[in-house]
Amino acid sequence: RRKLSEKKEKTLGMIKPDGVEKLGQILDEIYKRGFLLTRLRMCCLDRNQAFRFYEEHRDKPFFNALIDYITSGPIIVFEIVNTNAVDNWREAIGPTDPSRARTVAPTSIRAQYGIDVTRNVVHGSDSAASAVRELEFFFPSSGPMLPNTSKGGNCT
Ligand code: PPS
Repeated sequence: RRKLSEKKEKTLGMIKPDGVEKLGQILDEIYKRGFLLTRLRMCCLDRNQAFRFYEEHRDKPFFNALIDYITSGPIIVFEIVNTNAVDNWREAIGPTDPSRARTVAPTSIRAQYGIDVTRNVVHGSDSAASAVRELEFFFPSSGPMLPNTSKGGNCT
């Protein structure tokens, strides 16, 4: 019988535009850590989609930089199903700022592949509630799959 603290959980992971350029290495990190990816897609966000995805940050000083960056090229999003997936994936990616990550979590993905606080290669939902919303955003349970992979953003 699994302990309560070891329950299976889902989270959304993302490889951001600069991470896609290091895709092989980052997928290798994910595989080495034993994460189970149950759904995965590549897509491009247009600005409206990026605004919706990051709407909780709309009043932050870095919001425009974040939107410019996340719409600058293709991204890869995936559903992870694992024990304590939210926390375990957040731990694997490390702190937001790669230079801090290199100090406090040197084996994390951001420490190894991140460039700066904007180009920090990966994303992970910050809570189980965010994970539900973010998974629904990219992998809707009903209706068309949005955003469309063939139109918009800078994919075309
Ligand atoms: S906060 O204020 O604690 O909620 O912010 P944080 O969790 O650190 O970051 C939220 C997302 O914004 C990105 N971020 C930035 N983007 C561009 N420029 C700057 N300066 C910046 N600072 C933070 C950060 O990478 C987070 O993106 P996600 O995709 O959620 O990891």
